[in-house]
Amino acid sequence: MGITQFLQQDDWKKEKHVPVIEIEGTVEKGKVVSIHLSVGKGIPHPNTTEHHIRWFKLFYHANGEKHPYHLGTYQFEAHAESIEGANKGPAKCEPDVRTSVLLEKPGQLIAMSYCNIHGIWENSIEFEI
Ligand code: FE2
Repeated sequence: MGITQFLQQDDWKKEKHVPVIEIEGTVEKGKVVSIHLSVGKGIPHPNTTEHHIRWFKLFYHANGEKHPYHLGTYQFEAHAESIEGANKGPAKCEPDVRTSVLLEKPGQLIAMSYCNIHGIWENSIEFEI
């Protein structure tokens, strides 16, 4: 079995946990491209001490290769925790991040998001060069 039995998928326009992957511009050989990851683009996800998105992971699978490459893990650590209590703190991380990568072959970007209550969600997009 393993972890794959827990990976959940859906349409991000209907389900608030699905990571949304956006390539800003076009992927070209030898050119760094920006990848935007977010969640709740269709329906906002809560962001409270008790219920929030904890991390994203981003992978790249180049067409024809056996294994994916891990591009990054993006942690969201502050969710309004405070000595005064839950949701009283002055800092919250939004589950929204941009990263810059060089991708030399066409393939697929695969993202995972982790909600501390509702588990692991995944999404993927294909791209050409
Ligand atoms: Fe959730």
